[in-house]
Amino acid sequence: MADITITTPEDARECYRHKALRQALYDAGEVVMEDVVVNLHGDEHRQRRRLENRLFRRDTFFEYEREMFPQIIQDTVNPYLEEGRAELVDFGHQLMMNLAALTAGVDRPLGTYEETDRLYDYLTSFIEGATLGFYTGDVDAKRTEIQEKLEAFDREFLEPGIELRRELLKKFENGDLDEKDLPRDVLLVLLRNEDKVPMTRESLRREIAFYLLAGAHTSATALTRVIHNIFKWLETHPEDRERAYSDKVFLQRATHETIRLQPSSPTAARWALEEIQLTSGIKILEGDRVVIDLETVNRDKASFGDDAEEFNPNRELPDGVSPWGLSFGQGMHACIGQDLAAGLVFDTNSTEEDHLFGLVPVAVQTLFLNGCSPDPDNPPEMDDSTTRPYFGKYPVIFTK
Ligand code: HEM
Repeated sequence: MADITITTPEDARECYRHKALRQALYDAGEVVMEDVVVNLHGDEHRQRRRLENRLFRRDTFFEYEREMFPQIIQDTVNPYLEEGRAELVDFGHQLMMNLAALTAGVDRPLGTYEETDRLYDYLTSFIEGATLGFYTGDVDAKRTEIQEKLEAFDREFLEPGIELRRELLKKFENGDLDEKDLPRDVLLVLLRNEDKVPMTRESLRREIAFYLLAGAHTSATALTRVIHNIFKWLETHPEDRERAYSDKVFLQRATHETIRLQPSSPTAARWALEEIQLTSGIKILEGDRVVIDLETVNRDKASFGDDAEEFNPNRELPDGVSPWGLSFGQGMHACIGQDLAAGLVFDTNSTEEDHLFGLVPVAVQTLFLNGCSPDPDNPPEMDDSTTRPYFGKYPVIFTK
C-alpha cells in the first residue's frame, strides 16, 4: 500500500471521475462523517446525491441570494459595523453558519443570541470532528466529546426541526399547504423522501451536521483569506484600491483567485478499490491511497500562466479553465454548493443585476463596501491547534 500523489490537472480530473476510487479523506473523522454524502460510494452515494440535487438548483440559489440571505448578512454584520471593528475568523463563521443553517434546515425558534451561540458551539465541535485527522491533541477524548455534542444538538435543534417539517409535510399532503410554502432545506428533502431512501436517525443527524459544517467552515475560511489577499494586493497595487472598495465583480474575482490558491481542503484523497492505470501512465495498485495535491494542481502554469503561484485578481484565463481550479472537486463528489458559495463566472453576457455572485463574494462585498481595513493595532494570528494553515484571529476595522 502506497500513497500516490497527483499533481497535474489531467490526472486529478481522471481520479475524481474514477469509479474505483473511494473517498479517503474522512477516515479519522467518522464520528461526524461516517455515512454522510461526501463519504458514501457507488449506489448509496448516487441515491443520496440525487435527492439532495433537487434542492441545490440554480433557481434555489437565486432565491437564497436575492431573497433570503441579504437580511441574514445585514443582521449579522450590523453589530460589528456599529462597533466599528470585527474579528474576521469569528465573524465569518457566525455569518456562514447563519446561512448554512438555513440551507441545512436547522431552525432557531427562539432567535436569541444565546441560542445562536450554542449552535455555534456545536458547529465548532463538528468542524473538529471532520478534521480530527489533523488534530494535535488527545484524539479519543475529542471523539467522545464530539459524539456527546451531536446528541445534544439533536435534542435541542434537530428534533424540533423534524417535528415541524413532518407537520408541514402532512399539511402539504392533505392539500392544506402549497409546495412553495415548504422550507427549502436539506432536512425537508430527506424527510420528504424517507419512504424511498430511508435513513436512521444517527445518519440523518450526521448528514445535517455535515451540511452545517460543509457550508459554514469552507466558506468562512475562504472569506478571511480573500480579505487578507486583497489587503496584501493593495499594498503593492494601490491603483486597484477604488475597485476593491466599490467593484463587486473585482471582489468576486478576488474570491475565485483565493479559492484557487488556497483551496479550503488542500488535498483530496481516495482509496483504490482495484488496480488502475491513468492515461498519463501512473499505476495505482489496489489498496493504494491517491492524494490529489490541489495546491500544486491549481498552480499549473499551462492553465494559469507563468505567475500561477501569485495572487492576481486581474488574471486572464484561457477558455475552459475555471478560475478556482479544482478547488470544488469534480466527478461524483463535486461540491454540491459550488454555485451557492462562489456564484457563476462573470462574462461578457453577464449584468450585475442578473448575476449570481455567490455567498462568499457577497460577504466580501459587504465588508469592503463598508470600508473594511486591517486593524493597525492588532495584527492577525495563526491558529496553532491544527496543522492546517488557518488564521486564528484576524482583526479589522470599518472606516465608513
Ligand atoms: C468556498 C466554499 C466551498 C469549497 C471550497 C468547497 C469545496 C468542496 C470540495 C473540494 C468538495 C469535494 C470533496 C471531495 O471530492 O472529496 C465538496 C463537496 C461538497 N460540498 Fe462543498 N465547498 C464549499 C462550499 C459548500 C457549501 C456552501 C455547501 C453547502 C451548502 C457545500 C456542500 C458540499 C457537499 C454536500 C459536498 C459533498 C458532495 C458529494 O459528495 O456528492 N460546500 N466541497
